[in-house]
Amino acid sequence: GIKIVTIGGGSSYTPELVEGFIKRYDSLPVRELWLVDIPEGEEKLNIVGNLAKRMVKKAGLPIEVHLTLDRREALKDADFVTTQFRVGLLAARAKDERIPLKYNVIGQETNGPGGLFKGLRTIPIILDIVKDLEELCPNAWLINFTNPAGMVTEAVLRHSNWKRIVGLCNVPISIQMGIAKLLEVEASRVHVDFAGLNHMVFGLNVYLDGKNITPDFLEKMTKHKSDTMKNIAAIDWEPDFIKALGAIPCGYHRYYYKQAEMLQNELEEAAEQGTRAEVVQQLEKELFELYKDEHLDIKPPQLEKRGGAYYSDAACSLIDSMYNDRRDIQPVNTINNGAIASIPDESAVEISSIITKEGPKPITIGDLPVAVRGLVQQIKSFERVAAEAAVTGNYHTALLAMTINPLLPSDKVAKQILDEMLEAHKEHLPQF
Ligand code: NAD
Ligand code: G6P
Ligand code: MN
Ligand code: MN
Repeated sequence: GIKIVTIGGGSSYTPELVEGFIKRYDSLPVRELWLVDIPEGEEKLNIVGNLAKRMVKKAGLPIEVHLTLDRREALKDADFVTTQFRVGLLAARAKDERIPLKYNVIGQETNGPGGLFKGLRTIPIILDIVKDLEELCPNAWLINFTNPAGMVTEAVLRHSNWKRIVGLCNVPISIQMGIAKLLEVEASRVHVDFAGLNHMVFGLNVYLDGKNITPDFLEKMTKHKSDTMKNIAAIDWEPDFIKALGAIPCGYHRYYYKQAEMLQNELEEAAEQGTRAEVVQQLEKELFELYKDEHLDIKPPQLEKRGGAYYSDAACSLIDSMYNDRRDIQPVNTINNGAIASIPDESAVEISSIITKEGPKPITIGDLPVAVRGLVQQIKSFERVAAEAAVTGNYHTALLAMTINPLLPSDKVAKQILDEMLEAHKEHLPQF
């Protein structure tokens, strides 16, 4: 039987993961699922863990669900380890979003100053986790969702000896589902060539039943109202920009190509209903109230209000393809190895890959279109410098990361935001 360990098991997304394993039980017989959390998350862990147990029982499957605060006990001989933890919980995310806004800079979970600080808090913990993996389950695969997933994958590839990591995000799968919806066809008939970085990924080509329909699709896309993840304001793209680009941007590209409108929107929303973290705090309360109900034994549809909806489905498909050596194509974060010419071989990229039992094999694209190549390289440089700052705790490296991020207007504002955020987050930044 397969042993899965989920770190950050108290997440409200866990029922989706459990649903994914139940659905795939015939090809992916999970024997043990260990949900790991920390004392601050114990209450959530118990609520969501008990729901997981009811779901498994209802399905009549012999999957054992274990709840624990002892990570090392859980990791012993694991086959797959998924990570979905949030250092500092949503209160830290709220600061990541609020503080930059005071300086008229985008405040966002994975982009700009917020993304930098989420990385600074998360990377030391993930590096501790991989030390445990080396010792307790050296043959396991680490499937990381923890944001900023691109920077976290980069940090593990460059600052540890652990190579068995795949970073995962629901953005590519959501793009594919959105395309299918627009075309009014089954998602399985649509294929997209993805390449770029996490939350900086492009759909370079769209195929329907194997036929490349990219220009027609882009034309169609510009005639419809934008659809995006629940956490990103769906402000419409300029149709002529999309046609000129010749590729599908992801929702997060709005922070770069529509910075002014997105900032304005964030400022308004923060004043009206609160930042996204504040909205999610409320959503989470409602979800956990539902999860507490002992009659509930399925994943409730309300979970779809979260931006990460369907991400666990991507996780379960990935694990299934790795376990069964399916060699199908899925978009994941993995080591570049020359797949994108203008990104270093040893860096993490988000790219369509062949999924094998030895891990993902990224499909070589040559290079990104010249119009987007520079921004992608700049974000990769930001991620690398940020990861180094997270590992070393060096103030100047952190300042460099902040300043070279394209969402910062100046070195001076970068330093002001850095100083305020270092102070605000100091309990979760022992390395500084
Ligand atoms: P959450 O706030 O519910 O946190 C999940 C759990 O992590 C909590 O129960 C918390 O107690 C626990 N935790 C915190 N520090 C921990 C540690 N050191 N060890 C073990 N557990 C710890 O978060 P969420 O909204 O469910 O999101 C979880 C993570 O997944 C975040 O980092 C989020 O950004 C990420 N996420 C990524 C994607 C993606 O596309 N890759 C999609 C959704 C969520
Ligand atoms: C998805 C992203 C995730 C992110 C989530 C936020 O779009 O791919 O990486 O964590 O949205 O959703 P939330 O509901 O927490 O705002
Ligand atoms: Mn190093
Ligand atoms: Mn994501």
